[in-house]
Amino acid sequence: MQRLTNKQVVLGISGGIAAYKSAELTRLLKGAGADVRVVMTPSATEFITPLTLQALSGNPVHQHLLDTEAEAAMGHIELAKWADLILIAPASANLMARLTAGQGDDLLTTICLATEAPICLAPAMNQAMWKDSGTQENAEKLISRGIKLFGPGVGEQACGDTGPGRMLEPEEIVQETANQFETGSLTGKTLFITAGPTREAMDPVRYISNHSSGKMGYAIAEAAAEAGASVKLISGPVNIKAPERTQLIKVESAEEMLSASLEGLENCDIFIAAAAVADYRPTAVAEHKIKKGTEEIMELHLVKNPDIVATVAGSSPKPYTVGFAAETKDVLNYARGKLERKGLDLIIANDVSRSDIGFNSDENAVTVISQQDTLELPQASKRQLAGSLIELIAAQYKATK
Ligand code: PMT
Repeated sequence: MQRLTNKQVVLGISGGIAAYKSAELTRLLKGAGADVRVVMTPSATEFITPLTLQALSGNPVHQHLLDTEAEAAMGHIELAKWADLILIAPASANLMARLTAGQGDDLLTTICLATEAPICLAPAMNQAMWKDSGTQENAEKLISRGIKLFGPGVGEQACGDTGPGRMLEPEEIVQETANQFETGSLTGKTLFITAGPTREAMDPVRYISNHSSGKMGYAIAEAAAEAGASVKLISGPVNIKAPERTQLIKVESAEEMLSASLEGLENCDIFIAAAAVADYRPTAVAEHKIKKGTEEIMELHLVKNPDIVATVAGSSPKPYTVGFAAETKDVLNYARGKLERKGLDLIIANDVSRSDIGFNSDENAVTVISQQDTLELPQASKRQLAGSLIELIAAQYKATK
């Protein structure tokens, strides 16, 4: 169940007897590596206590829309943005009706309105309520809007009836949830992804570098692996863990990053350069620590580093090559210049003058530029953006074949 590792799941619980299974569901989701935040409707708390779910999820349980204290800690918009996926289990007939009507009359439905994450429901209700034409119409409308329904199953029900409407078992729901993260759009493809900063040594203890945390590149590597690709992640020094199912190659300098990028390049289908590579390095690395002298000004001589992504784009055979452009002004113009100059197929521009996106933040906002199109992807978590970017890159790559 690797696909759930580090996934941020909002588990919504609505009122129904199957809510007792949500405790086991929370435990299994956590066990599969997901970070789970439980959101309960008022009627769900009649069936199972928030305390149980708090203990099992390891996070506070969210219940009220108009609770200033809870909103200050993590408000409904933050929760909506935080989620990689919203899973509602059990989803009652009433909850499905409210979602269909686009209502935001409690915390859970409001989060569903505010999120851009996929929403999945595990319906649970009496068989007659499930068969009711109103519920069936609601189910169809929800599906047509892209909401996924897991089940319901058929069998004996808590009320003594037998038929469709049983909530799937927690194990089945966890499996279905994990499947949502597997797109298959890059199955059989090999991707090389550069990430993080480079360090250009001056002496044994000092270097020139930048603020890249690697979060953007690592999120892209994770999304690519989830899309079925075989991923080589070439990373400068960062403090985050490599995503599962990726091959991590650790490097320090731009020159090391270049040789790792060129090794096996003939097998690479798509190359994505998310690393913040130092444009220059000291002309020489002192053998011993440079001592402080008496002079007020110290001169440091720099020499240009090789341009990794341009070298890759100029190779033969050339992989589909995607660069990033980190700019602080005139973002789109500079990015278009880099697309041309470096011979790229696609460039992803981001504004690194802002502290809420770009370097070292958990969110980003980008513009994807090709020869033909310009597409803006609004501010979202780097992990969500990475998912969209990978799907977009996969589609563009396929269009060139
Ligand atoms: O790591 P994070 O904290 O998550 O931050 C993400 C990010 C801001 C680093 C990322 O989104 C980003 O913009 N990466 C590219 C940063 C950069 O170096 O941009 P640039 O405009 O200077 O370079 C343009 C492209 O050429 C980039 O794809 C870069 O990887 C590549 N390049 C640059 C210089 C060089 N010598 N070799 C290169 O391959």
